[in-house]
Amino acid sequence: MPRGRERAVSVRDGATENGALEDLRASVGLQIDDEALLTDLARGLGAVEQLLRDVVRSDVAAVNEAARHLVEAGGKRFRPLFTLLAGQFGTETGSRDGVITAAAAVELVHLATLYHDDVMDEATMRRGAESVNARWDNTVAILTGDFLFAHASRLVADLGTDAARIIAETFGELVTGQMRETVGPAEGEDPIEHYLTVIGQKTGSLIATSGRFGGMLSGAPDEYVEALRRFGDIIGTAFQISDDIIDIDSPSAELGKSQGTDLREGVKTLPMLYELSEDKPNARLSELLSGPISDDAEVAEALALLRSSRGLERARTTLSGYAQRARTELAALPPSPARDACESVADYLVARTH
Ligand code: IPE
Ligand code: IPE
Ligand code: MG
Ligand code: MG
Repeated sequence: MPRGRERAVSVRDGATENGALEDLRASVGLQIDDEALLTDLARGLGAVEQLLRDVVRSDVAAVNEAARHLVEAGGKRFRPLFTLLAGQFGTETGSRDGVITAAAAVELVHLATLYHDDVMDEATMRRGAESVNARWDNTVAILTGDFLFAHASRLVADLGTDAARIIAETFGELVTGQMRETVGPAEGEDPIEHYLTVIGQKTGSLIATSGRFGGMLSGAPDEYVEALRRFGDIIGTAFQISDDIIDIDSPSAELGKSQGTDLREGVKTLPMLYELSEDKPNARLSELLSGPISDDAEVAEALALLRSSRGLERARTTLSGYAQRARTELAALPPSPARDACESVADYLVARTH
């Protein structure tokens, strides 16, 4: 199955299909042996899926079609899954609805950013399907992204003013990270520091909030909520590093999205920045990375050189370091199948790049 079509769990009309638990085990690398946890997560994801489909309904056929396009194309559902996992650390019963609403809301925010991201990155493929900007046009992609943001906000409004403030702040941080990436490092700024700030903001922030929401809305103690937020922040940063590695070192069909997009846009990711910071970077690669690349053959050449570069190797080492730091954050949480599952996510982020 192409990566872009990976699903955390198979669901149809909100009900889990046969084999859903196996799918969940095989999906985002979760190693869960505990049947009760698996059943609960699968049920939760089924409810999230139903909510996502309900939310993206509009009277205007064009909005409906464009909004459903990427919801139905799949994706890993990593953020809702992590929200549900974090929701296991609470003590309150009867709080499931809030966790499920939050899980759907973070996926909607994520999805909306993908609609906008593909416009900015001029990407043609997403989740194994045509991107919305390619299938329709930029206007449709931008407006549909706004529609999804609006509905994410509506869902979060039901979770109280604290949640509404948190998602607003998260969105602000995410957009700031995206803007920082667009503008590039300031004069004299270390490009690697800049990259790490960008990805913490554009990717880590929403995954941190997913963990925070799960903990908060299930009534977990403050120190657990804080540990889940920090774990999410680090794991989110690691997630983006692994995504940037895979963008170089994985066949496009498996990726489910356009490969080499960063090279075409002139955005330098960690493997490229590390290579350029070497004492003797590959001369041809340095030349190719000096600006956006438009020629297909040159993109392929740069990808091939990056695959065997020292920069890619160093990026893998940095990724392992983040995964290790994330694991240490889990020490603040009580030992449980849910904590083990969080740990397996850290392992998976490293494993997916090999
Ligand atoms: C893609 O996120 C954008 C990044 C932050 C790397 P995902 O890899 O979670 O995308 P989907 O949801 O599975 O499509
Ligand atoms: C994803 O960024 C969008 C956000 C995290 C806001 P990228 O442009 O790096 O991710 P992909 O590779 O297109 O999914
Ligand atoms: Mg992109
Ligand atoms: Mg981008």
